Amino acid sequence: MIRWTFFIALGLWLLVLVGLKLLIAPPIPASVLTLYLVMTTVAIVLFVMANEDRWRAFQAPLRAVFEGRVPRFVQAAVLIALPVLVMGAAYLRLAPTHDAPFEPRVVHPEPPSGFNLKGKRISVSGLKNPLRTDGPELAARIAEGKNIYYRNCFFCHGDSLAGDGHFAGVFRPIPANFRDVGTLSMLQESYVFWRVATGGSGLPKGATPWNSAMPVWQDFLSEDEIWKVVLYIYAGSGSTPRTWEEGTHAGHQ
Ligand code: HEC
Repeated sequence: MIRWTFFIALGLWLLVLVGLKLLIAPPIPASVLTLYLVMTTVAIVLFVMANEDRWRAFQAPLRAVFEGRVPRFVQAAVLIALPVLVMGAAYLRLAPTHDAPFEPRVVHPEPPSGFNLKGKRISVSGLKNPLRTDGPELAARIAEGKNIYYRNCFFCHGDSLAGDGHFAGVFRPIPANFRDVGTLSMLQESYVFWRVATGGSGLPKGATPWNSAMPVWQDFLSEDEIWKVVLYIYAGSGSTPRTWEEGTHAGHQ
């Protein structure tokens, strides 16, 4: 058994490498893999060196190759294989991949403190929906908002406000799904008003790269109409807006 120390150690090392590569999902990062392999190497070497006979047996095949006590072709094969392995590993590390570069995307960027609406300066902080009142007029406003929604928004945001309108499939990012708890319920109405009024092109530079197809609605709707459609998308999707009392930050995640 001890005669085979070198090959057992090598086999064990390769087994650990293959196991870490193939059995763990999702794949572990290369730096962690290197760390584990270094620990494996140290453990194996320590184990081998702890015993004199084992250490000698471990060195024997290496000595045989480097001191020329094996057939020429074996020596040649080892001497060629070693640099080729190192070159191969270096190449795999440096070779360019065809994957698109990773582009982190902030879905809800921090809104600006204010923005221009038809030439008027609007301050986002503390802004409330002036049409959200307790009286009976609210239902009529929501109904008007629904009308506005089906004339302008449902093509993209969908019949049931789930972001699955007729055109939704061709846009990247896809239109927002208002039934998703991660959208409207997390946001204040001032934030939603800002997003609707300034659309994809109103997004701050920090939130790029963006190709949002969301139109700039202040070019097509009045301020009141925007507030009404905001009322509707909350009511229609069964969401409740976050209020300023819950936190001073406009909705962002
Ligand atoms: C041409 C397609 C299109 C139309 C029409 C459209 N939107 Fe959008 N909308 C988008 C896209 C695309 C996004 C970006 C989704 C994202 O950022 O992930 C978006 C985002 C939004 C957001 C931001 C949601 C969030 O979670 O930050 C709101 C609010 C919104 N739209 C409301 C509306 C309203 C109201 C209308 C109608 C007045 C409308 N949209 C019409 C495509 C559209």
